[in-house]
Amino acid sequence: MLLNFEIFVVWAVHALSSSWVSATSETSDAGLNSSTLCPSTSSCTCQSSIIQCSGLSSLDLLPPSSVAEQLVVLDSQLPLLNVTLLQHLPQLRHLELTNCSIGGIVGTWWNPHLQDINLASNNFTTFSLNSLDGLLGLRTLNLSANPLRSVLPHPPVEARLQTLDLTSRHWNCTEHTMTWLAAWLQRSPPRLLAGESETLCEETRKQYRTMDGRRLVDVLRLTQTMLDQCPSAPPFGCSCDLIQVDVAPTPAASPASAESGTGGEGPLIAVIVEVYCDNRGLTEFPPLTDFGPVIGNHSGYQALTALFLDGNLLEAEDANRLEGSDFIHRFSILSLSRNKLQTLPLYAFDNAFQKRSFNVDSLFLGGNPWLCDCDSAFTFSFRTWLASQHKLIRDRAEIRCGAGALSTGPPAGPPLLTLSRRKLCGGPQISWWDVAIGLLATAVIVLMLKFAYDVTVYRRTGELPLVVRKLPW
Ligand SMILES: *[C@@H]1O[C@H](CO)[C@@H](O)[C@H](O)[C@H]1NC(C)=O
Ligand SMILES: *[C@@H]1O[C@H](CO)[C@@H](O)[C@H](O)[C@H]1NC(C)=O
Ligand SMILES: *[C@@H]1O[C@H](CO)[C@@H](O)[C@H](O)[C@H]1NC(C)=O
Ligand SMILES: *[C@@H]1O[C@H](CO)[C@@H](O)[C@H](O)[C@H]1NC(C)=O
Ligand SMILES: *[C@@H]1O[C@H](CO)[C@@H](O)[C@H](O)[C@H]1NC(C)=O
Ligand SMILES: *[C@@H]1O[C@H](CO)[C@@H](O)[C@H](O)[C@H]1NC(C)=O
Ligand SMILES: *[C@@H]1O[C@H](CO)[C@@H](O)[C@H](O)[C@H]1NC(C)=O
Repeated sequence: MLLNFEIFVVWAVHALSSSWVSATSETSDAGLNSSTLCPSTSSCTCQSSIIQCSGLSSLDLLPPSSVAEQLVVLDSQLPLLNVTLLQHLPQLRHLELTNCSIGGIVGTWWNPHLQDINLASNNFTTFSLNSLDGLLGLRTLNLSANPLRSVLPHPPVEARLQTLDLTSRHWNCTEHTMTWLAAWLQRSPPRLLAGESETLCEETRKQYRTMDGRRLVDVLRLTQTMLDQCPSAPPFGCSCDLIQVDVAPTPAASPASAESGTGGEGPLIAVIVEVYCDNRGLTEFPPLTDFGPVIGNHSGYQALTALFLDGNLLEAEDANRLEGSDFIHRFSILSLSRNKLQTLPLYAFDNAFQKRSFNVDSLFLGGNPWLCDCDSAFTFSFRTWLASQHKLIRDRAEIRCGAGALSTGPPAGPPLLTLSRRKLCGGPQISWWDVAIGLLATAVIVLMLKFAYDVTVYRRTGELPLVVRKLPW
Protein backbone atom coordinates (compact mmCIF):
# COMPACT_ATOMS: atom_id res chain seq x y z
CA MET A 1 0.00 0.00 0.00
CA LEU A 2 2.76 2.39 0.93
CA LEU A 3 4.59 1.61 -2.28
CA ASN A 4 1.50 2.31 -4.39
CA PHE A 5 0.98 5.49 -2.56
CA GLU A 6 4.48 6.71 -3.32
CA ILE A 7 4.12 5.82 -6.98
CA PHE A 8 0.93 7.77 -7.07
CA VAL A 9 2.60 10.83 -5.57
CA VAL A 10 5.35 10.70 -8.17
CA TRP A 11 2.84 10.33 -10.98
CA ALA A 12 0.67 13.12 -9.63
CA VAL A 13 3.60 15.51 -9.45
CA HIS A 14 4.42 14.80 -13.08
CA ALA A 15 1.02 14.67 -14.55
CA LEU A 16 -1.68 16.47 -12.69
CA SER A 17 -2.56 19.61 -10.81
CA SER A 18 -0.86 20.43 -7.56
CA SER A 19 -4.15 20.50 -5.65
CA TRP A 20 -4.14 16.67 -5.74
CA VAL A 21 -0.63 16.56 -4.45
CA SER A 22 -1.59 18.60 -1.42
CA ALA A 23 -4.59 16.34 -0.90
CA THR A 24 -2.43 13.22 -0.94
CA SER A 25 0.31 14.64 1.20
CA GLU A 26 -2.26 15.65 3.80
CA THR A 27 -4.00 12.30 3.79
CA SER A 28 -2.55 9.49 5.78
CA ASP A 29 -2.14 5.98 4.38
CA ALA A 30 -5.24 4.78 6.24
CA GLY A 31 -7.59 7.63 5.33
CA LEU A 32 -7.24 8.00 1.57
CA ASN A 33 -10.05 10.22 0.31
CA SER A 34 -11.32 8.50 -2.82
CA SER A 35 -13.76 11.11 -3.99
CA THR A 36 -11.10 13.79 -4.25
CA LEU A 37 -8.52 11.46 -5.80
CA CYS A 38 -10.70 9.92 -8.47
CA PRO A 39 -9.98 11.81 -11.71
CA SER A 40 -12.55 12.53 -14.39
CA THR A 41 -12.09 13.26 -18.10
CA SER A 42 -14.49 14.28 -20.83
CA SER A 43 -15.54 10.69 -21.58
CA CYS A 44 -15.23 9.36 -18.05
CA THR A 45 -16.90 10.26 -14.82
CA CYS A 46 -15.61 9.29 -11.47
CA GLN A 47 -17.44 8.76 -8.24
CA SER A 48 -15.94 7.34 -5.11
CA SER A 49 -13.65 4.58 -6.42
CA ILE A 50 -15.69 3.94 -9.58
CA ILE A 51 -14.65 5.18 -13.00
CA GLN A 52 -17.35 4.97 -15.66
CA CYS A 53 -16.65 5.74 -19.31
CA SER A 54 -18.44 5.50 -22.61
CA GLY A 55 -17.62 6.30 -26.21
CA LEU A 56 -13.91 5.57 -25.74
CA SER A 57 -11.81 4.79 -28.79
CA SER A 58 -8.72 3.81 -26.82
CA LEU A 59 -7.85 2.93 -23.25
CA ASP A 60 -5.08 5.56 -23.60
CA LEU A 61 -7.81 8.06 -22.74
CA LEU A 62 -8.41 6.47 -19.33
CA PRO A 63 -7.41 8.62 -16.40
CA PRO A 64 -4.80 6.79 -14.31
CA SER A 65 -5.80 6.26 -10.72
CA SER A 66 -4.28 4.48 -7.78
CA VAL A 67 -7.58 4.33 -5.94
CA ALA A 68 -10.08 3.26 -8.60
CA GLU A 69 -11.46 -0.14 -7.69
CA GLN A 70 -14.05 -0.43 -10.39
CA LEU A 71 -13.86 0.47 -14.06
CA VAL A 72 -16.94 0.41 -16.28
CA VAL A 73 -16.52 1.11 -19.98
CA LEU A 74 -19.67 0.98 -22.10
CA ASP A 75 -20.58 1.52 -25.75
CA SER A 76 -17.05 2.11 -27.02
CA GLN A 77 -14.91 1.04 -29.97
CA LEU A 78 -11.95 -0.97 -28.68
CA PRO A 79 -11.60 -3.74 -31.30
CA LEU A 80 -8.23 -4.70 -29.85
CA LEU A 81 -8.04 -4.34 -26.09
CA ASN A 82 -4.54 -3.45 -24.92
CA VAL A 83 -4.60 -4.59 -21.31
CA THR A 84 -1.16 -3.14 -20.60
CA LEU A 85 -2.97 0.21 -20.28
CA LEU A 86 -5.03 -1.17 -17.38
CA GLN A 87 -1.83 -1.27 -15.32
CA HIS A 88 -2.56 2.40 -14.61
CA LEU A 89 -5.33 1.16 -12.32
CA PRO A 90 -3.42 -1.03 -9.89
CA GLN A 91 -6.23 -1.26 -7.30
CA LEU A 92 -8.82 -2.47 -9.81
CA ARG A 93 -11.16 -5.12 -8.38
CA HIS A 94 -14.08 -5.08 -10.80
CA LEU A 95 -13.79 -4.55 -14.53
CA GLU A 96 -16.65 -4.22 -16.94
CA LEU A 97 -16.08 -3.60 -20.63
CA THR A 98 -19.38 -4.23 -22.39
CA ASN A 99 -20.59 -3.31 -25.88
CA CYS A 100 -17.08 -2.23 -26.83
CA SER A 101 -16.65 -4.36 -30.02
CA ILE A 102 -13.65 -6.07 -28.45
CA GLY A 103 -12.47 -8.92 -30.67
CA GLY A 104 -9.08 -9.65 -29.12
CA ILE A 105 -6.78 -8.93 -26.22
CA VAL A 106 -3.15 -7.83 -26.51
CA GLY A 107 -0.56 -6.82 -23.98
CA THR A 108 0.19 -8.18 -20.54
CA TRP A 109 -1.21 -7.28 -17.17
CA TRP A 110 -0.62 -8.24 -13.65
CA ASN A 111 -3.13 -7.51 -10.94
CA PRO A 112 -3.64 -9.60 -7.82
CA HIS A 113 -6.80 -7.69 -6.79
CA LEU A 114 -8.99 -8.03 -9.87
CA GLN A 115 -11.84 -10.39 -8.99
CA ASP A 116 -14.34 -10.18 -11.77
CA ILE A 117 -14.30 -9.25 -15.42
CA ASN A 118 -17.38 -8.65 -17.50
CA LEU A 119 -16.68 -8.70 -21.23
CA ALA A 120 -20.28 -9.29 -22.28
CA SER A 121 -21.64 -8.07 -25.62
CA ASN A 122 -18.33 -7.80 -27.41
CA ASN A 123 -17.01 -9.36 -30.61
CA PHE A 124 -14.95 -12.33 -29.36
CA THR A 125 -15.13 -15.43 -31.55
CA THR A 126 -12.37 -17.15 -29.60
CA PHE A 127 -11.03 -16.25 -26.21
CA SER A 128 -7.81 -17.50 -24.67
CA LEU A 129 -7.79 -17.91 -20.88
CA ASN A 130 -4.05 -17.48 -21.21
CA SER A 131 -4.60 -13.73 -21.58
CA LEU A 132 -5.81 -13.63 -17.94
CA ASP A 133 -2.74 -15.37 -16.54
CA GLY A 134 -1.55 -12.36 -14.52
CA LEU A 135 -4.83 -11.96 -12.62
CA LEU A 136 -4.15 -13.98 -9.53
CA GLY A 137 -7.38 -13.11 -7.73
CA LEU A 138 -9.77 -13.70 -10.62
CA ARG A 139 -13.03 -15.41 -9.61
CA THR A 140 -15.63 -14.47 -12.22
CA LEU A 141 -15.47 -14.12 -15.99
CA ASN A 142 -18.47 -13.03 -18.00
CA LEU A 143 -18.21 -13.57 -21.75
CA SER A 144 -21.93 -13.71 -22.47
CA ALA A 145 -23.41 -12.40 -25.71
CA ASN A 146 -20.22 -12.74 -27.72
CA PRO A 147 -20.17 -14.69 -31.02
CA LEU A 148 -17.93 -17.20 -29.22
CA ARG A 149 -17.03 -20.50 -30.90
CA SER A 150 -14.37 -21.66 -28.47
CA VAL A 151 -12.44 -20.68 -25.36
CA LEU A 152 -8.89 -21.97 -25.24
CA PRO A 153 -7.94 -23.51 -21.91
CA HIS A 154 -5.19 -22.42 -19.51
CA PRO A 155 -5.05 -24.56 -16.33
CA PRO A 156 -3.90 -21.87 -13.84
CA VAL A 157 -6.78 -19.59 -14.81
CA GLU A 158 -9.27 -22.49 -14.83
CA ALA A 159 -8.25 -23.28 -11.26
CA ARG A 160 -8.93 -19.69 -10.10
CA LEU A 161 -12.26 -19.18 -11.82
CA GLN A 162 -15.37 -19.92 -9.77
CA THR A 163 -18.08 -18.53 -12.01
CA LEU A 164 -18.30 -18.36 -15.78
CA ASP A 165 -20.93 -16.92 -18.02
CA LEU A 166 -20.49 -18.20 -21.57
CA THR A 167 -24.00 -17.58 -22.81
CA SER A 168 -23.90 -17.77 -26.59
CA ARG A 169 -25.63 -19.75 -29.30
CA HIS A 170 -22.60 -20.09 -31.53
CA TRP A 171 -20.43 -22.67 -29.79
CA ASN A 172 -18.49 -24.96 -32.09
CA CYS A 173 -19.38 -28.26 -30.48
CA THR A 174 -17.17 -30.34 -32.75
CA GLU A 175 -14.18 -28.54 -31.23
CA HIS A 176 -12.43 -30.76 -28.67
CA THR A 177 -10.57 -27.86 -27.04
CA MET A 178 -13.71 -27.01 -25.06
CA THR A 179 -13.68 -30.27 -23.10
CA TRP A 180 -11.76 -28.42 -20.35
CA LEU A 181 -15.13 -26.90 -19.46
CA ALA A 182 -16.63 -30.32 -18.69
CA ALA A 183 -13.67 -31.04 -16.41
CA TRP A 184 -13.93 -27.56 -14.83
CA LEU A 185 -17.56 -28.19 -13.87
CA GLN A 186 -16.45 -31.33 -12.01
CA ARG A 187 -14.04 -29.40 -9.82
CA SER A 188 -14.52 -28.83 -6.14
CA PRO A 189 -15.70 -26.55 -4.71
CA PRO A 190 -18.53 -26.61 -7.24
CA ARG A 191 -18.18 -24.17 -10.12
CA LEU A 192 -21.02 -22.24 -11.65
CA LEU A 193 -21.70 -21.96 -15.35
CA ALA A 194 -24.27 -19.18 -15.43
CA GLY A 195 -26.83 -19.36 -18.19
CA GLU A 196 -26.06 -23.02 -18.86
CA SER A 197 -29.35 -23.56 -20.64
CA GLU A 198 -28.62 -20.64 -22.97
CA THR A 199 -25.12 -21.83 -23.82
CA LEU A 200 -25.82 -23.67 -27.04
CA CYS A 201 -24.10 -25.30 -29.97
CA GLU A 202 -24.25 -24.04 -33.49
CA GLU A 203 -23.88 -26.63 -36.22
CA THR A 204 -20.58 -26.63 -37.97
CA ARG A 205 -20.76 -29.91 -39.88
CA LYS A 206 -23.35 -29.34 -42.50
CA GLN A 207 -24.13 -32.99 -43.19
CA TYR A 208 -25.45 -33.62 -39.68
CA ARG A 209 -27.43 -30.90 -37.99
CA THR A 210 -27.98 -32.86 -34.81
CA MET A 211 -25.86 -30.67 -32.51
CA ASP A 212 -27.60 -27.48 -33.50
CA GLY A 213 -29.24 -25.94 -30.45
CA ARG A 214 -28.01 -28.62 -28.01
CA ARG A 215 -26.57 -27.45 -24.73
CA LEU A 216 -22.80 -27.09 -24.95
CA VAL A 217 -22.34 -28.82 -21.60
CA ASP A 218 -24.31 -31.90 -22.63
CA VAL A 219 -22.29 -32.30 -25.82
CA LEU A 220 -19.01 -31.70 -23.98
CA ARG A 221 -19.77 -34.42 -21.45
CA LEU A 222 -20.38 -36.88 -24.27
CA THR A 223 -17.23 -35.74 -26.02
CA GLN A 224 -15.24 -36.20 -22.84
CA THR A 225 -16.54 -39.75 -22.34
CA MET A 226 -15.77 -40.54 -25.95
CA LEU A 227 -12.24 -39.15 -25.70
CA ASP A 228 -11.65 -41.17 -22.53
CA GLN A 229 -12.51 -44.31 -24.48
CA CYS A 230 -10.74 -43.36 -27.68
CA PRO A 231 -7.73 -45.63 -28.31
CA SER A 232 -5.52 -42.56 -28.60
CA ALA A 233 -2.65 -43.81 -26.43
CA PRO A 234 0.32 -45.63 -27.99
CA PRO A 235 0.58 -47.91 -29.85
CA PHE A 236 -2.74 -46.99 -31.47
CA GLY A 237 -2.72 -43.20 -31.54
CA CYS A 238 -6.21 -43.01 -33.00
CA SER A 239 -8.29 -39.84 -33.01
CA CYS A 240 -12.00 -39.81 -32.33
CA ASP A 241 -14.77 -37.43 -33.33
CA LEU A 242 -18.33 -37.13 -32.15
CA ILE A 243 -20.30 -36.74 -35.36
CA GLN A 244 -23.93 -37.13 -34.55
CA VAL A 245 -25.93 -36.97 -31.32
CA ASP A 246 -29.54 -37.53 -30.37
CA VAL A 247 -31.79 -37.61 -27.36
CA ALA A 248 -32.24 -41.17 -26.22
CA PRO A 249 -35.75 -42.50 -26.65
CA THR A 250 -36.22 -43.13 -22.94
CA PRO A 251 -39.59 -43.19 -21.18
CA ALA A 252 -40.10 -40.03 -19.13
CA ALA A 253 -40.34 -41.99 -15.89
CA SER A 254 -36.93 -43.58 -16.31
CA PRO A 255 -34.30 -42.56 -13.77
CA ALA A 256 -31.96 -41.67 -16.62
CA SER A 257 -34.08 -38.68 -17.58
CA ALA A 258 -33.70 -37.14 -14.15
CA GLU A 259 -30.00 -36.46 -14.58
CA SER A 260 -30.27 -35.25 -18.15
CA GLY A 261 -30.80 -31.59 -18.65
CA THR A 262 -33.02 -31.90 -21.66
CA GLY A 263 -36.28 -31.37 -19.85
CA GLY A 264 -38.12 -34.67 -19.50
CA GLU A 265 -36.49 -36.33 -22.50
CA GLY A 266 -33.80 -38.95 -22.23
CA PRO A 267 -30.12 -38.08 -21.98
CA LEU A 268 -28.11 -36.99 -24.96
CA ILE A 269 -26.31 -39.92 -26.58
CA ALA A 270 -23.88 -40.33 -29.42
CA VAL A 271 -25.26 -41.75 -32.63
CA ILE A 272 -22.10 -41.72 -34.72
CA VAL A 273 -18.54 -41.66 -33.49
CA GLU A 274 -15.72 -41.65 -36.02
CA VAL A 275 -12.49 -43.36 -35.03
CA TYR A 276 -9.50 -42.64 -37.22
CA CYS A 277 -6.73 -45.21 -36.94
CA ASP A 278 -5.62 -45.07 -40.55
CA ASN A 279 -1.98 -45.19 -41.67
CA ARG A 280 -0.60 -45.68 -38.19
CA GLY A 281 1.43 -48.81 -38.84
CA LEU A 282 -0.91 -50.84 -36.63
CA THR A 283 -0.32 -54.56 -36.37
CA GLU A 284 -3.38 -55.24 -34.24
CA PHE A 285 -6.94 -54.05 -33.86
CA PRO A 286 -7.44 -51.15 -31.46
CA PRO A 287 -9.67 -51.98 -28.48
CA LEU A 288 -13.13 -50.83 -29.49
CA THR A 289 -15.49 -52.75 -27.32
CA ASP A 290 -16.00 -49.97 -24.82
CA PHE A 291 -17.89 -47.23 -26.54
CA GLY A 292 -20.93 -48.49 -24.63
CA PRO A 293 -21.17 -45.59 -22.19
CA VAL A 294 -21.37 -43.10 -25.04
CA ILE A 295 -23.85 -45.16 -26.96
CA GLY A 296 -25.87 -46.23 -23.97
CA ASN A 297 -28.19 -49.20 -23.90
CA HIS A 298 -30.66 -47.70 -26.29
CA SER A 299 -32.14 -49.89 -28.93
CA GLY A 300 -31.85 -48.44 -32.38
CA TYR A 301 -28.50 -46.85 -31.59
CA GLN A 302 -26.29 -49.87 -31.71
CA ALA A 303 -24.51 -49.12 -34.95
CA LEU A 304 -22.40 -46.33 -33.77
CA THR A 305 -18.85 -46.38 -34.80
CA ALA A 306 -17.22 -45.52 -38.07
CA LEU A 307 -13.76 -47.03 -37.85
CA PHE A 308 -11.02 -46.18 -40.33
CA LEU A 309 -8.15 -48.63 -40.26
CA ASP A 310 -6.88 -48.21 -43.81
CA GLY A 311 -3.21 -48.39 -44.60
CA ASN A 312 -2.07 -50.46 -41.63
CA LEU A 313 -0.44 -53.88 -41.31
CA LEU A 314 -3.43 -55.88 -40.10
CA GLU A 315 -3.42 -59.57 -40.97
CA ALA A 316 -6.06 -62.25 -41.18
CA GLU A 317 -5.63 -63.27 -37.57
CA ASP A 318 -6.34 -59.71 -36.46
CA ALA A 319 -9.49 -59.66 -38.51
CA ASN A 320 -10.48 -62.99 -37.00
CA ARG A 321 -10.65 -61.28 -33.62
CA LEU A 322 -13.62 -59.31 -34.89
CA GLU A 323 -15.55 -62.51 -34.48
CA GLY A 324 -17.16 -62.44 -31.08
CA SER A 325 -16.36 -58.76 -30.51
CA ASP A 326 -19.02 -56.18 -29.71
CA PHE A 327 -17.67 -53.95 -32.34
CA ILE A 328 -18.78 -56.08 -35.25
CA HIS A 329 -22.36 -55.57 -34.10
CA ARG A 330 -21.99 -51.82 -33.76
CA PHE A 331 -20.12 -50.40 -36.67
CA SER A 332 -21.70 -48.29 -39.35
CA ILE A 333 -18.56 -47.89 -41.46
CA LEU A 334 -15.49 -50.12 -41.33
CA SER A 335 -12.55 -49.46 -43.58
CA LEU A 336 -9.89 -52.14 -43.73
CA SER A 337 -8.47 -51.25 -47.11
CA ARG A 338 -4.74 -51.42 -47.84
CA ASN A 339 -3.82 -53.82 -45.05
CA LYS A 340 -2.35 -57.32 -45.24
CA LEU A 341 -5.59 -59.23 -45.03
CA GLN A 342 -5.86 -62.51 -46.92
CA THR A 343 -9.04 -63.82 -45.38
CA LEU A 344 -11.96 -62.49 -43.39
CA PRO A 345 -14.36 -64.19 -40.92
CA LEU A 346 -17.28 -63.97 -43.33
CA TYR A 347 -19.76 -65.84 -41.11
CA ALA A 348 -19.11 -63.38 -38.29
CA PHE A 349 -20.05 -60.51 -40.58
CA ASP A 350 -23.07 -62.37 -41.91
CA ASN A 351 -24.16 -63.06 -38.39
CA ALA A 352 -23.82 -59.40 -37.47
CA PHE A 353 -25.62 -58.20 -40.58
CA GLN A 354 -28.55 -60.48 -39.84
CA LYS A 355 -28.87 -59.59 -36.17
CA ARG A 356 -29.26 -55.91 -36.50
CA SER A 357 -31.34 -53.55 -38.54
CA PHE A 358 -30.05 -51.48 -41.44
CA ASN A 359 -27.59 -49.41 -39.49
CA VAL A 360 -24.49 -50.77 -41.16
CA ASP A 361 -23.55 -48.47 -43.95
CA SER A 362 -20.38 -49.57 -45.64
CA LEU A 363 -17.36 -51.81 -45.58
CA PHE A 364 -14.11 -51.12 -47.47
CA LEU A 365 -11.81 -54.04 -48.19
CA GLY A 366 -9.80 -53.08 -51.30
CA GLY A 367 -6.04 -53.14 -51.65
CA ASN A 368 -5.53 -56.25 -49.51
CA PRO A 369 -3.69 -59.36 -50.79
CA TRP A 370 -6.82 -61.54 -50.76
CA LEU A 371 -6.32 -65.28 -50.93
CA CYS A 372 -7.22 -66.65 -54.35
CA ASP A 373 -6.72 -70.36 -54.45
CA CYS A 374 -8.71 -73.04 -56.20
CA ASP A 375 -8.26 -75.35 -53.22
CA SER A 376 -9.42 -72.77 -50.68
CA ALA A 377 -13.05 -72.74 -49.64
CA PHE A 378 -12.55 -69.11 -48.62
CA THR A 379 -11.87 -67.90 -52.14
CA PHE A 380 -15.20 -69.05 -53.55
CA SER A 381 -17.24 -68.13 -50.47
CA PHE A 382 -15.64 -64.71 -50.54
CA ARG A 383 -16.46 -64.21 -54.21
CA THR A 384 -20.08 -65.21 -53.64
CA TRP A 385 -20.24 -63.03 -50.53
CA LEU A 386 -18.90 -60.02 -52.42
CA ALA A 387 -21.66 -60.46 -54.97
CA SER A 388 -24.36 -60.84 -52.32
CA GLN A 389 -23.20 -57.84 -50.22
CA HIS A 390 -22.91 -55.50 -53.16
CA LYS A 391 -24.71 -52.68 -51.34
CA LEU A 392 -22.37 -52.71 -48.36
CA ILE A 393 -19.00 -53.34 -49.92
CA ARG A 394 -18.26 -50.08 -51.61
CA ASP A 395 -14.93 -50.83 -53.22
CA ARG A 396 -15.51 -54.25 -54.78
CA ALA A 397 -13.60 -53.22 -57.90
CA GLU A 398 -10.48 -52.84 -55.74
CA ILE A 399 -10.72 -56.32 -54.25
CA ARG A 400 -8.05 -58.36 -56.00
CA CYS A 401 -5.99 -61.50 -55.55
CA GLY A 402 -2.69 -61.02 -53.75
CA ALA A 403 -2.02 -64.38 -52.12
CA GLY A 404 -2.38 -68.01 -53.02
CA ALA A 405 -1.71 -69.80 -56.30
CA LEU A 406 -3.05 -67.03 -58.46
CA SER A 407 -1.19 -64.14 -56.89
CA THR A 408 1.53 -62.33 -58.73
CA GLY A 409 2.97 -60.05 -56.08
CA PRO A 410 0.97 -57.08 -54.88
CA PRO A 411 -2.71 -57.11 -55.77
CA ALA A 412 -2.90 -55.77 -59.32
CA GLY A 413 -4.92 -58.21 -61.42
CA PRO A 414 -8.57 -58.01 -62.36
CA PRO A 415 -11.13 -57.72 -59.55
CA LEU A 416 -11.82 -61.03 -57.82
CA LEU A 417 -15.49 -60.68 -58.60
CA THR A 418 -14.82 -60.86 -62.34
CA LEU A 419 -12.70 -64.02 -62.15
CA SER A 420 -14.45 -67.20 -63.27
CA ARG A 421 -13.87 -70.51 -61.59
CA ARG A 422 -11.87 -71.57 -64.62
CA LYS A 423 -9.61 -68.56 -64.29
CA LEU A 424 -9.23 -69.10 -60.58
CA CYS A 425 -8.43 -72.78 -60.97
CA GLY A 426 -6.52 -72.72 -64.27
CA GLY A 427 -7.60 -76.19 -65.63
CA PRO A 428 -10.48 -76.89 -68.09
CA GLN A 429 -13.26 -76.93 -65.58
CA ILE A 430 -16.85 -77.18 -66.74
CA SER A 431 -18.87 -74.18 -65.92
CA TRP A 432 -22.66 -74.34 -66.04
CA TRP A 433 -22.62 -71.02 -67.72
CA ASP A 434 -20.47 -72.40 -70.51
CA VAL A 435 -22.77 -75.43 -70.81
CA ALA A 436 -25.79 -73.17 -71.09
CA ILE A 437 -24.12 -71.10 -73.82
CA GLY A 438 -23.21 -74.32 -75.68
CA LEU A 439 -26.78 -75.57 -75.52
CA LEU A 440 -28.08 -72.25 -76.77
CA ALA A 441 -25.64 -72.28 -79.69
CA THR A 442 -26.69 -75.84 -80.62
CA ALA A 443 -30.36 -74.87 -80.51
CA VAL A 444 -29.71 -71.92 -82.82
CA ILE A 445 -27.89 -74.15 -85.35
CA VAL A 446 -30.69 -76.75 -85.26
CA LEU A 447 -33.29 -74.04 -85.89
CA MET A 448 -31.31 -72.64 -88.81
CA LEU A 449 -30.95 -76.13 -90.38
CA LYS A 450 -34.69 -76.76 -89.95
CA PHE A 451 -35.44 -73.43 -91.65
CA ALA A 452 -33.16 -74.26 -94.58
CA TYR A 453 -34.84 -77.67 -94.90
CA ASP A 454 -38.36 -76.17 -94.85
CA VAL A 455 -37.43 -73.62 -97.51
CA THR A 456 -36.03 -76.38 -99.74
CA VAL A 457 -39.17 -78.55 -99.34
CA TYR A 458 -41.46 -75.60 -100.13
CA ARG A 459 -39.57 -74.73 -103.31
CA ARG A 460 -39.66 -78.29 -104.50
CA THR A 461 -43.17 -79.35 -103.56
CA GLY A 462 -45.01 -76.12 -102.66
CA GLU A 463 -45.87 -77.76 -99.36
CA LEU A 464 -45.81 -75.55 -96.28
CA PRO A 465 -44.08 -76.79 -93.14
CA LEU A 466 -46.35 -78.70 -90.74
CA VAL A 467 -46.32 -75.95 -88.13
CA VAL A 468 -47.59 -73.36 -90.63
CA ARG A 469 -50.36 -75.64 -91.89
CA LYS A 470 -51.69 -76.19 -88.37
CA LEU A 471 -51.95 -72.46 -87.68
CA PRO A 472 -55.61 -71.30 -87.40
CA TRP A 473 -55.58 -68.69 -90.22
C1 LIG B 1 -13.51 13.08 1.41
O1 LIG B 1 -13.77 14.41 0.95
C2 LIG B 1 -15.14 14.76 0.97
C3 LIG B 1 -15.32 16.17 0.37
O2 LIG B 1 -14.12 16.72 0.06
C4 LIG B 1 -15.62 14.74 2.42
O3 LIG B 1 -17.00 15.09 2.49
C5 LIG B 1 -15.40 13.37 2.99
O4 LIG B 1 -15.78 13.34 4.35
C6 LIG B 1 -13.96 12.93 2.86
N1 LIG B 1 -13.84 11.57 3.26
C7 LIG B 1 -12.85 11.10 4.00
C8 LIG B 1 -12.86 9.64 4.32
O5 LIG B 1 -11.95 11.81 4.38
C1 LIG C 1 -23.42 -0.19 -28.26
O1 LIG C 1 -22.55 0.88 -28.53
C2 LIG C 1 -22.85 1.63 -29.68
C3 LIG C 1 -21.80 2.70 -29.82
O2 LIG C 1 -20.54 2.10 -29.88
C4 LIG C 1 -24.25 2.26 -29.52
O3 LIG C 1 -24.59 2.94 -30.70
C5 LIG C 1 -25.26 1.14 -29.27
O4 LIG C 1 -26.55 1.71 -29.01
C6 LIG C 1 -24.85 0.32 -28.08
N1 LIG C 1 -25.72 -0.80 -27.95
C7 LIG C 1 -26.37 -1.08 -26.81
C8 LIG C 1 -27.25 -2.27 -26.83
O5 LIG C 1 -26.25 -0.40 -25.82
C1 LIG D 1 -0.04 -1.67 -25.36
O1 LIG D 1 0.21 -0.50 -24.61
C2 LIG D 1 1.55 -0.39 -24.15
C3 LIG D 1 1.66 0.82 -23.24
O2 LIG D 1 1.14 1.95 -23.87
C4 LIG D 1 2.47 -0.28 -25.36
O3 LIG D 1 3.83 -0.20 -24.91
C5 LIG D 1 2.30 -1.52 -26.23
O4 LIG D 1 3.07 -1.39 -27.40
C6 LIG D 1 0.83 -1.69 -26.60
N1 LIG D 1 0.71 -2.98 -27.27
C7 LIG D 1 0.11 -3.08 -28.43
C8 LIG D 1 0.10 -4.46 -29.04
O5 LIG D 1 -0.41 -2.15 -28.99
C1 LIG E 1 -16.48 -8.28 -35.34
O1 LIG E 1 -15.36 -8.97 -35.86
C2 LIG E 1 -15.47 -9.25 -37.23
C3 LIG E 1 -14.23 -10.02 -37.61
O2 LIG E 1 -14.00 -11.04 -36.71
C4 LIG E 1 -15.60 -7.98 -38.03
O3 LIG E 1 -15.76 -8.28 -39.39
C5 LIG E 1 -16.78 -7.18 -37.53
O4 LIG E 1 -16.82 -5.94 -38.20
C6 LIG E 1 -16.68 -6.95 -36.05
N1 LIG E 1 -17.88 -6.30 -35.56
C7 LIG E 1 -17.83 -5.19 -34.86
C8 LIG E 1 -19.16 -4.66 -34.42
O5 LIG E 1 -16.78 -4.66 -34.56
C1 LIG F 1 -23.01 -11.23 -17.57
O1 LIG F 1 -23.23 -9.97 -18.13
C2 LIG F 1 -24.51 -9.77 -18.66
C3 LIG F 1 -24.55 -8.41 -19.30
O2 LIG F 1 -23.89 -7.46 -18.52
C4 LIG F 1 -25.54 -9.91 -17.53
O3 LIG F 1 -26.84 -9.78 -18.05
C5 LIG F 1 -25.37 -11.27 -16.88
O4 LIG F 1 -26.26 -11.37 -15.77
C6 LIG F 1 -23.95 -11.45 -16.41
N1 LIG F 1 -23.78 -12.77 -15.87
C7 LIG F 1 -23.48 -12.99 -14.59
C8 LIG F 1 -23.30 -14.41 -14.20
O5 LIG F 1 -23.37 -12.09 -13.80
C1 LIG G 1 -15.30 -26.10 -35.56
O1 LIG G 1 -14.30 -26.95 -35.07
C2 LIG G 1 -13.83 -27.90 -36.00
C3 LIG G 1 -12.84 -28.80 -35.30
O2 LIG G 1 -11.83 -28.07 -34.69
C4 LIG G 1 -13.21 -27.17 -37.18
O3 LIG G 1 -12.77 -28.09 -38.14
C5 LIG G 1 -14.25 -26.24 -37.79
O4 LIG G 1 -13.66 -25.49 -38.82
C6 LIG G 1 -14.80 -25.32 -36.75
N1 LIG G 1 -15.86 -24.55 -37.33
C7 LIG G 1 -15.92 -23.23 -37.26
C8 LIG G 1 -17.05 -22.59 -37.95
O5 LIG G 1 -15.06 -22.58 -36.64
C1 LIG H 1 -26.19 -51.58 -20.22
O1 LIG H 1 -26.90 -52.63 -19.58
C2 LIG H 1 -26.09 -53.52 -18.85
C3 LIG H 1 -26.95 -54.63 -18.29
O2 LIG H 1 -28.28 -54.42 -18.57
C4 LIG H 1 -25.38 -52.75 -17.73
O3 LIG H 1 -24.52 -53.62 -17.04
C5 LIG H 1 -24.58 -51.62 -18.34
O4 LIG H 1 -23.99 -50.85 -17.33
C6 LIG H 1 -25.47 -50.75 -19.19
N1 LIG H 1 -24.64 -49.75 -19.85
C7 LIG H 1 -25.00 -48.49 -19.89
C8 LIG H 1 -24.06 -47.57 -20.60
O5 LIG H 1 -26.01 -48.04 -19.40
